[in-house]
Amino acid sequence: MSRADLVVVANRLPVDRVIAPDGEESWRRSPGGLVTALEPVMRKPDRAWVGWGGQPDLDIEPFDFEGARLVPVPLSAPEIESYYEGFANGTIWPLYHDVIAAPVYRRSWWESYVQVNRRFAQAAADAVEQGGVVWVQDYQLQLVPKLLRELRPDVTIGYFHHIPFPAYGLYSQLPWRRQVLEGLLGADVIGFQRQADAGNFQRSVRRVLHHTTRSNEIVVTSPQDGKEDSRVAIAKAYPISIDAQSYIELAQDPKVRARAVEIREQLGNPKTILLGVDRLDYTKGIRHRLKAFGELLQDGRLTVGDATLVQVASPSRQRVDAYAELRDEIELTVGRINGDYDTMHHTAIRYLHQGFPREEMVALYLAADVMLVTALRDGMNLVAKEYVAARTDNTGVLLLSEFAGAADELTSALLVNPHDIGGLKDLIMRAVEMSPGEQSRRMRALRRRVLEHDVEDWSHDILNDIDKIRTARNARR
Ligand code: G6P
Repeated sequence: MSRADLVVVANRLPVDRVIAPDGEESWRRSPGGLVTALEPVMRKPDRAWVGWGGQPDLDIEPFDFEGARLVPVPLSAPEIESYYEGFANGTIWPLYHDVIAAPVYRRSWWESYVQVNRRFAQAAADAVEQGGVVWVQDYQLQLVPKLLRELRPDVTIGYFHHIPFPAYGLYSQLPWRRQVLEGLLGADVIGFQRQADAGNFQRSVRRVLHHTTRSNEIVVTSPQDGKEDSRVAIAKAYPISIDAQSYIELAQDPKVRARAVEIREQLGNPKTILLGVDRLDYTKGIRHRLKAFGELLQDGRLTVGDATLVQVASPSRQRVDAYAELRDEIELTVGRINGDYDTMHHTAIRYLHQGFPREEMVALYLAADVMLVTALRDGMNLVAKEYVAARTDNTGVLLLSEFAGAADELTSALLVNPHDIGGLKDLIMRAVEMSPGEQSRRMRALRRRVLEHDVEDWSHDILNDIDKIRTARNARR
């Protein structure tokens, strides 16, 4: 098998397995943000992607897809439970999102995480050519950089952390806090969404491992043949973005625009459509949003017929208890609000527990006067950027949580603390009542930022830093 010059390692492959009614199996590009983000990177020759195929016990040979080599890593059903649903999404996810849900610390989950990370590291080591680059993605694979460095010291390693990195006071709860930091520090470049995340990481590194940090650099020392060996790792912010141009094109497509008009009509042409689009996750603040909206109806500040909230909550991690419980709570709340306020003609909340193709999402963005992003904690939140990119006529209002990474860049949004329900209600009213002049002023500034820094800049910036280190290392050999 030929080896690749750049290998991406992520929990999931960029494709989904589909089985046609006649039993024929094929692969289809998956709709996720990471896949789109890495598309320009993967389009070049000599690329490979190592990841899980999305189903238990899928043990198949590497294959080519749209010009890139895909290397499936098999996971058994018990491993999906302990590594993916357990340690990744029952321990790390809640801990790193400021313990919005209680993290569970279970030793058997940790052992499985180590074992599966080892398998991913081995697959990457087998796929990359001499002196090549491996770019590891996200919190499911934090141990891969160190494990890979042990297997392939010739390789330059990057890591990007798509979710928040918590303050030391929370991070220090993790029983394996030392091993996880050592795992990440196997990378030459460790990228975060916000400068605050990079800062939290550096503080943990100082406290737990006693390494020296200066600005974006960490001096990583390790004992080598009896003497201290040291190298410099970079830890800094590379905020991820979207392919803004593709959203603009969709927003200008007559079919998508017609669909937006149709959506408004189907909702009974309310004066204001408010929109929420999230994976159904407790980090997204969906309950807070529903509470605020329900109270505004109760107070009579909004009325059904004038205002409708469309809430798309795409199914996610449904076998993890906290997600199943959240779904029940949300559906109870939506049912109650709709039961209290719906009329024969209009609904208060149009709730959709479904995923939609990108065309339909852009039509929804065009139909929505107010976009509600009320995450309690979020690495970046690309929905905020997608909404802004789609509003080519500079209308519409983005209400954005201070606790989403996007708030660092999208400072012209209406910024909100979603825990403050009174404040959230007032800001929703401000958004609903905002003058066209103010909408346009704010939207222009937001669009400038999203268009200036798109996802190709993101991958270019981080790969550039990785490449500088690779060039310097290969020159020393
Ligand atoms: C977040 C994470 C990704 C993850 C995605 C979907 O965006 O940062 O790593 O892939 O959620 O979650 P799932 O568990 O379905 O892969």
